[in-house]
Amino acid sequence: MNETLTLALSKGRIFKETLPLLAAAGIRPTEDPATSRKLILATNQPQVKLVVVRATDVPTYVEHGAADLGVAGKDVLMEHEGDNLYEPLDLGIARCRMMVAGRPDQPVPGRRRRIATKYVHSTRRHFAAKGEQVEIIKLYGSMELAPLVGLADAIVDLVDTGNTLRANGLEPLEHIADISSRLVVNKASLKIKTAAVQALVAKLEAAVEETRACSD
Ligand code: ATP
Ligand code: PRP
Repeated sequence: MNETLTLALSKGRIFKETLPLLAAAGIRPTEDPATSRKLILATNQPQVKLVVVRATDVPTYVEHGAADLGVAGKDVLMEHEGDNLYEPLDLGIARCRMMVAGRPDQPVPGRRRRIATKYVHSTRRHFAAKGEQVEIIKLYGSMELAPLVGLADAIVDLVDTGNTLRANGLEPLEHIADISSRLVVNKASLKIKTAAVQALVAKLEAAVEETRACSD
């Protein structure tokens, strides 16, 4: 059986960290995604191709079947609304934490706190679960700036080393979720291309296990 499979990846961190897992599964792009301007990349396996999209667009491509599989951060998946995706595998890459962060000396304001973030749904869920009413200010990047210029009292963003927070005089305040990248699969692809999808998932699972064993 030789069904074609399309895998959606985003440039940068996810591409870089997914490539060794793909290589362990026997899949290598025929061009270097870092230098190529192409958005559809062939691989050494004629039946497998890669499409390069924005990180936040990966679930959309997979949900609509434009890609059979994809790799997306749990942060992106938590924001994505839709239920046409399976999430069969934690790839254990691009690990970080989603956190509330702010100034250490920030007094509790006598009004609803303003929280700047690009993670609007996750932020709403987090504060609703605590029973705290907040005003959410949607940003698309550089969240750390918001408390420094009075746009917000705190932010919700990703934290890895904590260097970005420290460089801006902020500190982590509340943990929301541990984040890593997940393999996502279109539900129809799994039904129609069962053997090919399951074979790739199994190979990636073995690659993840191998990486884990090496780092233990
Ligand atoms: P876009 O290009 O759509 O704005 P982005 O800039 O968030 O996306 P990346 O910075 O490459 O894209 O992040 C991709 C994923 O990597 C994120 O969704 C998250 O899961 C993870 N990630 C982001 N920042 C870090 C970090 N500092 N350390 C580890 N993983 C991270
Ligand atoms: C991410 C995130 C933080 C930073 C945290 O940004 O949005 O700003 O990493 O990492 P740290 O705790 O190790 O400093 P990224 O580097 O991906 O830049 P971007 O948001 O502009 O993509």
